[in-house]
Amino acid sequence: MSISLIGKSISESATLRLNEIAAVLRAKGEPVIHLGGGEPKTKAPLDAILQAVSLLNSAEVRYTPADGIPELKQAVIRYTQDFYDRKVEPENVIISGGAKQAIMVALQAILNPQEECIFPAPYWVSYPEMCKLIGAVPVPVYPEDGTFYPRIQDIERVVTSYTKCVIINSPNNPTGAMYSEDFIRDIVEFCEKRNLYLIMDDIYHRLIFDGRKPINCYEYAKDLGENSKLILINGISKQYSMTGFRIGWAVANKNLIRVMTNIQGHQTSGPSVVLQKAAVGALNGTQSGVENLRRTLENNRNVMMERLNAFDGVRAYKPDGTFYCFVDFSHYEKDSRKLSEFLLEKVRVLTVPGVEFGLEGFLRLSTCGSIKDITEGIERIKWALDPNSPNELYIGERKLVRDWL
Ligand SMILES: Cc1ncc(COP(=O)(O)O)c(C=O)c1O
Repeated sequence: MSISLIGKSISESATLRLNEIAAVLRAKGEPVIHLGGGEPKTKAPLDAILQAVSLLNSAEVRYTPADGIPELKQAVIRYTQDFYDRKVEPENVIISGGAKQAIMVALQAILNPQEECIFPAPYWVSYPEMCKLIGAVPVPVYPEDGTFYPRIQDIERVVTSYTKCVIINSPNNPTGAMYSEDFIRDIVEFCEKRNLYLIMDDIYHRLIFDGRKPINCYEYAKDLGENSKLILINGISKQYSMTGFRIGWAVANKNLIRVMTNIQGHQTSGPSVVLQKAAVGALNGTQSGVENLRRTLENNRNVMMERLNAFDGVRAYKPDGTFYCFVDFSHYEKDSRKLSEFLLEKVRVLTVPGVEFGLEGFLRLSTCGSIKDITEGIERIKWALDPNSPNELYIGERKLVRDWL
């Protein structure tokens, strides 16, 4: 079989693969605890469901404009005004099949083969593969001080004449780190000075803790006109617990949005009108669900941290937002894939290996399940790894006997 070079270079999405493994094991009746998930467990907002159902009832489900339905664009315009104090026009907005597609078409619109795209590590698993899909070069940058908080010097260090864009994801998947206002100001100014595109992946911007306020990248932009190279990404997946609806968007200059629309028009056309209607419902409807989710996630984060801090040998970093904890398990095992497989096999706890996000020795543990998932999941991991634990563990009726330490 003859496969293209790009096709061969793309690896499977580790997170999607793990979801499938968990589903298969669960279907077999295995007591799996899924600490690998990337989606909240709450239900989608009623306003979203009602809008979608109402359209379905009309039985008129048609193509949409390639850049999205006007009603949803208006909702995004209002969202941008509310959260970013920025007034944009419909031509500045594209609605895509998830934030994922919005980022992908943005990269396709700006990157030539061989050009470089910089992003801080650890990073969301899809950034490198998205760059490779275009034949462009992903350039992860590791903060020199060993933290999860990049400084502008770190970015400066890796810029070359091939650099075309920077992606910033804050709060960050997988670390939960929310970058400082100073860093956001520095990166916006730096990209403007160097004439680089800056993609702000703000998908988790409302899911933040400890009284933090979302950071508005536009506050630091000098150029807010149609030459601006700032691309703002957002979506309904995380904040409204609507991952399966696959609606996200980008806000950028009109010319770039036009090019992205041309690309998307041939790639997928506009997203399903049913799902766009649902997104209108979510954005224009009652907003209390977002705050409830945020509060639940903050509480879950606290419980997760409490458990991890009582776990000898692991190093946990307190997340500022999102629903992830990125935890250093290298004291027990440096090969994160091996460790993740071991935990799934021995105690049926699903985690995501840090290496998938560009950092070995870590596991990403998700807090979007129940408190019981978190406490029992950590208890099982501790039992599996800590040589001082009792020799036996009960999972329901099932008795596990440790025969590996
Ligand atoms: C950092 C980041 N960006 C974008 C996305 C994609 O979100 P969507 O479901 O809107 O495609 C995800 C999903 O996991 C993410 O973690």
